[in-house]
Amino acid sequence: MTRYAHITGWGMAVPERVLTNQDLEKIVNTNDGWILDRTGIRERRIASKTDTTASLATQAALRALHGTGVAASEVDLIIVATCSPEHLFPATASIVQDQIGASQAGAFDLLAACTGFIFALNMAAQAVRSGSIDTALVIGSETLSRLVNYQDRSTAILFGDGAGAFLIEGRDWPGGVLSSVMRSDGSGGELLSIPAGGSYMPTTLETVRENMHYIQMNGREVFRFATRVMASATREVIEEAGMRVEDISLVIPHQANLRIIEAAARGLKLPLDRFVINIERYGNTSTASIPIAFCEAWDQGRIRTGDNLVLVGFGAGLTWGALAMTLTERERPLKVDGRRSTLLVSRARLRSIGRRIGRRLDSLIFRTSSRPPD
Ligand code: ACO
Repeated sequence: MTRYAHITGWGMAVPERVLTNQDLEKIVNTNDGWILDRTGIRERRIASKTDTTASLATQAALRALHGTGVAASEVDLIIVATCSPEHLFPATASIVQDQIGASQAGAFDLLAACTGFIFALNMAAQAVRSGSIDTALVIGSETLSRLVNYQDRSTAILFGDGAGAFLIEGRDWPGGVLSSVMRSDGSGGELLSIPAGGSYMPTTLETVRENMHYIQMNGREVFRFATRVMASATREVIEEAGMRVEDISLVIPHQANLRIIEAAARGLKLPLDRFVINIERYGNTSTASIPIAFCEAWDQGRIRTGDNLVLVGFGAGLTWGALAMTLTERERPLKVDGRRSTLLVSRARLRSIGRRIGRRLDSLIFRTSSRPPD
């Protein structure tokens, strides 16, 4: 039976502390007008001493599970996409796994910079579709404020902290993740990097003195690259899904710079109101920006079940990618003895329960689906 990877839950978490452009004017030689004009950013959230990449990820993950009927203990896999992990190892995903009590889950981090959430979602969806797992949490979480040099105005103004998470469940009916594109061009690695702190350039007094443990970026070149790939990856993923640009309700782009999103809209000949944009309030939260934008668009009623969406992003690596999806209803109504009913327990949960108690899934589904509605 063909399996499909549906997005059935989502959640976000951002720190309370707000850092405005006016606040930044007091720290570094910049001004609100320049930042707003060149990036579209007014303010960003900054982690408090107690916020960490794992704590924000944990909050977002719990919110994604909330109301879905899926317990943390039923999750099979947790992927945390991040470029500000808590440690080189252990993985931030393992910390989240422990904090939410996902006792049956495998967990790992995925590093593809700001494209990480799309790559992670695609990997989890492939695992669900293959039938090897039923339920996955995909999380993008960052505390990039800890990796930014607030004396460097070219990067200090851009980044913010936050997390967003999707719950993915296997279903037997079409929908969910439809197609995806994952790309990399490592020859552009030096355009955006944190040079020190890894095995190539271990941290020394010298590397710290020279600020090599902070983000270094060639903004102009990254900008040029981003405007090149955003529209093409979107077009590619729509075509692969067998759709046309007109079939897409909303594009949810990585929030790096408003001008980059505007260029993508022009390239796709789409009005800007078909893009979710919230960079004004959060800046660039890297792997978290797409799921945060999704959550806000859902809360504002801009996304509805049945919508076809494209998620698209780019980042260090260089990496870029896109993913087309249809947001379907959590549970699809079933015909039972000529009457309409709903599945009271999802098939993914049945499969998971079936695996655990060693009974045949088919008989479990038969019993549940033939139960009359309450
Ligand atoms: N405030 C005031 N002036 C500034 C600032 C600032 N914060 N930063 C730069 N300037 C000045 C420069 O010194 C320069 O002055 P000059 O002309 O006298 O030399 C002038 O403004 C123009 O600088 P540019 O770098 O050409 O400015 P640009 O229009 O390219 O904007 C920016 C810079 C915002 C960084 C843009 O290039 C950009 O957004 N690039 C993409 C970055 C990005 O998306 N990075 C994240 C990737 S995702 C990930 O993987 C983490």
